[in-house]
Amino acid sequence: MKGVILAGGLGTRLFPLTKITNKHLLPVYDRPMIYYPIQTLVNAGIDDIMIVTGGRKSGDFLSLLGNGRDFGLKHLNYTYQEGEGGIAEALGLAEHWAQGESIAVVLGDNLIEKNINKAVADFKAQGKGAKIMLKEVHDPQRFGVATLEGDKVTRIIEKPKNPESNLAVIGIYMYDGRVWDIIHRLEPSDRGELEITDVNNWFIEDGTMTCEVLDGWWTDAGTFESLHAAAKLVAEGGANKVD
Ligand code: G1P
Repeated sequence: MKGVILAGGLGTRLFPLTKITNKHLLPVYDRPMIYYPIQTLVNAGIDDIMIVTGGRKSGDFLSLLGNGRDFGLKHLNYTYQEGEGGIAEALGLAEHWAQGESIAVVLGDNLIEKNINKAVADFKAQGKGAKIMLKEVHDPQRFGVATLEGDKVTRIIEKPKNPESNLAVIGIYMYDGRVWDIIHRLEPSDRGELEITDVNNWFIEDGTMTCEVLDGWWTDAGTFESLHAAAKLVAEGGANKVD
């Protein structure tokens, strides 16, 4: 299984911090933000990783990460997203490299306390389809929100005004090799982007989507509040724990 980290965008919600650099290079306590999603994949045994970057200072990723030696990696792959076409468009840039294999995708500003090892093992055992991870939040309007029937997710609404649950779809997704064709068929949303939520809803319709609630804390770090909260969580207890 290969891993893709999405680290593009202009980070406008963090202006002026991101006026001259990429959001994912900003510090979260004692490390640059991009270190956390890389560690999430590496801890799950995924060592063939593509970083999709974009926006400002994208060359700095190479200076910072090189071939991934800080993570015990021998090699890292990089590609570049021009413009602001959305998460699904950014993911699509990894198609030629993934060569039809299953992938785990992590948004570059998503941090977790523990690990996704069980979810990755469960997804491999599942054989096909997709898996999303959920977490209860107090502000679901900020996220993709899942509606569940029993333990099955029946739909996801992106940033709903009136959320049907408090279960946010976190930025860690697993897909089989059909994901690339699905991305090709997506239409831009009202905000002009190819939405990862549309990809996830396709797998729900297909009947091959599973979900798991993440153990331990999760946060994104794309707003001042969440960047601050992320630094505090890391400082107080650490992130990416293996057991
Ligand atoms: C994105 C996704 C959203 C998801 C969130 C997790 O939102 O569109 O579904 O819940 O990441 O961090 P964004 O941060 O791009 O607004």
